[in-house]
Amino acid sequence: MSDTNALEGRVAIITGGARGIGLAISEMLAARGASVIIADNGCDIDGRDPDPSVAQEVAGKLGEQARAYTSDMSVPAAAREAVDLAMEEFGGIDIVVNNAAILRDTLIFKPSVDDWDTVIRNNLSAAYYLIGAATPIMREQSKAGRGTEDGTEDGTENGTEGRKYTWGRIINLVSTAAFYGNYGQASYASAKGGLTSLMRITALDMMRSGITCNAVAPFAHTRVTEMIEPANDEQAAYKERGLTVPATHVGNLVGYLCSPAAQDVSGQLFGVRGREVMLFSQPRPIANIVAVGDEWDSDTLARTVDMELRGDFAELVTDLEIFNTDPKI
Ligand SMILES: NC(=O)c1ccc[n+]([C@@H]2O[C@H](COP(=O)([O-])OP(=O)(O)OC[C@H]3O[C@@H](n4cnc5c(N)ncnc54)[C@H](O)[C@@H]3O)[C@@H](O)[C@H]2O)c1
Repeated sequence: MSDTNALEGRVAIITGGARGIGLAISEMLAARGASVIIADNGCDIDGRDPDPSVAQEVAGKLGEQARAYTSDMSVPAAAREAVDLAMEEFGGIDIVVNNAAILRDTLIFKPSVDDWDTVIRNNLSAAYYLIGAATPIMREQSKAGRGTEDGTEDGTENGTEGRKYTWGRIINLVSTAAFYGNYGQASYASAKGGLTSLMRITALDMMRSGITCNAVAPFAHTRVTEMIEPANDEQAAYKERGLTVPATHVGNLVGYLCSPAAQDVSGQLFGVRGREVMLFSQPRPIANIVAVGDEWDSDTLARTVDMELRGDFAELVTDLEIFNTDPKI
């Protein structure tokens, strides 16, 4: 199937789909024929001062196959409304892209409970609300063999007698801040770590319905990259490099994950930085020690950790340090 019509007939909701990476994803899915709900309230980077005109303008430009939904997606009722809008306007929901995020950085020893709760609700809970609102419908669509009415697809595993739903996709935009971390990003990194785990459980729970879920950690020039205030030469170099990476590359990877070719790709953690696509490992035991006898005493445990595990300890480096190389653009 060609790139131009690969997503014909599919319906997508893209949270934060009116700016930056979300906009690149909305444009890519629409260019491949999908109908798109641009679920973006047009807020500032910290989640304040919403502006509905941002999503309305994007939907206007994309035309008949797009609608704007401009409520705050961190409210459970908004998730249901966005799904209802997709059903009413386009008759189904096949693709959910959890992309909207905000930042309220503060060092761990200067906590703000309000900022923590807002970031977790916005960057993690909102994705749970939307997945929760969309997946019951996606399961029903799977049982009914939506989009396979012509009977050209084969397979019987979801009980559709020769018709198999191959359309369902859920994609969470995460961040390498969750795997390495950056100073002051407790709430953002924790939310993204949670979103990575949410990806795995969604992939497991939806497996029998043939609906995939994957996570993508992007790097791209957006208003967020522009906002970085370098505290040292290393961060200044990171920012300079970040400003050279177009968000369209993220759109390409998400476009692939939504395509028929990725029907059996699920539970995976990707990264994308310009032309480079990465597959990240996911935590698995890499070394182990076992107590001789009933249990460890602390002296023996300390000695054995030093001898057997210390060599494999993860280095405490930030993702700014790890990805401070020239991107392939
Ligand atoms: N830019 C990067 O290099 C980078 C790096 C790592 C991860 N990410 C992730 O990629 C995604 C997109 O980032 P970006 O740089 O394009 O950000 P951005 O700030 O440019 O765009 C985010 C969009 O989300 C919308 N939004 C935020 N909260 C919302 C809410 N509650 N309801 C509705 N809309 C809401 C905003 O209005 C905005 O249009 C985010 O999940 C971000 O964490 C980006």
